[in-house]
Amino acid sequence: MPGRTGASRCRTGAGPVRDRPPGFIVGCMTVQLPSAGGSSLPQERRIVTEIPGPASRELLERRHSSVARGLSHVLPVFVAAAGGGVVVDVDGNSLIDFGSGIAVTGVGNSAERVVERVTEQVARFTHTCFMVAPYEGYVEVCEELNRLTPGDHEKRSALFNSGAEAVENAVKIARYATGRPAVVVFDHAYHGRTNLTMALTAKNMPYKHRFGPFASEVYRVPMAYPLRWPGGPERCAAEALDVITSLIHTQVGEDNVAAVLIEPIQGEGGFIVPPDGFLPGLAEFCAAHGIVLIADEIQSGLCRTGDWFASDHESVVPDLVTTAKGIAGGLPLAGVTGRADLMDAVHPGGLGGTYGGNPVACAAALGSLETMAKEDLAARARRIGDIMLPRLREIATATAAIADVRGRGAMLAVEIVRPGGIEPDPATAAQVAAACHQAGLLVLTCGTFGNVLRFLPPMVIGEPLLDEGLSILAEAFAGR
Ligand SMILES: Cc1ncc(COP(=O)(O)O)c(C=O)c1O
Repeated sequence: MPGRTGASRCRTGAGPVRDRPPGFIVGCMTVQLPSAGGSSLPQERRIVTEIPGPASRELLERRHSSVARGLSHVLPVFVAAAGGGVVVDVDGNSLIDFGSGIAVTGVGNSAERVVERVTEQVARFTHTCFMVAPYEGYVEVCEELNRLTPGDHEKRSALFNSGAEAVENAVKIARYATGRPAVVVFDHAYHGRTNLTMALTAKNMPYKHRFGPFASEVYRVPMAYPLRWPGGPERCAAEALDVITSLIHTQVGEDNVAAVLIEPIQGEGGFIVPPDGFLPGLAEFCAAHGIVLIADEIQSGLCRTGDWFASDHESVVPDLVTTAKGIAGGLPLAGVTGRADLMDAVHPGGLGGTYGGNPVACAAALGSLETMAKEDLAARARRIGDIMLPRLREIATATAAIADVRGRGAMLAVEIVRPGGIEPDPATAAQVAAACHQAGLLVLTCGTFGNVLRFLPPMVIGEPLLDEGLSILAEAFAGR
């Protein structure tokens, strides 16, 4: 049972957290850290020290002398346990989680079915390598992905470790199957940090700066971004399709294009939701020219937007879909799923990797997918949207700095600008995020201009916490 905590300045609880007794000393106070996470953690916000507290600061010092500077933290509190809608730090603070580890723990941290399946699998075997000696869990995850992704055509899947690796493999498959080199991507896109996916990602700082040269045959076109479309939001879908198809025709040539790669709702680039009609129009164009449409659903997929996949919203059926993040309740797993003729085009041995589809990660995915289905987390995500959107709009009405409230289900954002126009204001976004963090609400920023606050609560978060988080947000925006 988690205990109460308090703070003082006498001395800190030294040594690794795992070695500390359940009640260790932070300052002059005993901190009782939870011995387990999951939904049994008290679902409450509880701030008992400054943020970060002394135990986190001590770990941060060790982190600075042991971990590379290139890794940064949104909020430098070290985690002791997490579950439901809270993250508990090593000082005993319990924070409301509006981040889900960047859209990963939609089913909650240490979700019951994930823990059960992983525990059982770890005790049986941890690795054989699917390319050496296969196992049923991998096949089961592929069957599930084939069933759940948009379209009822014949599909195949392949599993990998990370989102970036899935995107790389989707491009490999599209190139192989079409025999064409070019990949078309969008402004504000984010697809990962490997060499090819850096080329596919739009934003320079911090993702690409000084990491080039990048992979070739990548062509970038404008994104249908209603707030910033020069012709206005009403004309955005039609005009964006005109510009994109004309650029592809004149600068690349349709016959040279293996794939158009798009996030149905852009994630890191700013939670940009294209206007209705845009994705179906793009799908139609791709189909007409034998171009593989790859939907990168790594952030938007698996119930997050209120459907199994964001593409479902307008009944778009991509040729290939990439998944990762939310699929395995926090364990590293990713997939490429799509048309059997494309997926099976590649020669045996052409796809794979030592760890891809690791049995423990597959067990986690089966627990996570089962939870999504049994607890209808898509409906929970819609309910979260129904609660949050009106509150966010209320905040926006009282706040000149918010130019747009957008998103679907449990993937929502506000875009922050200088009042009176749409000039991005990343400084205010950072200040609001910092104020939320201090008050015990974990929120993330994103966007090409760093001026978007995004909200990705676990789908299992309780409504009182959701409500409290929104009140903290309103407070952080007050007077801006
Ligand atoms: C849409 C999208 N694609 C790809 C990736 C890369 O995934 P990973 O960090 O697992 O490599 C991300 C990660 O944020 C993402 O949001």
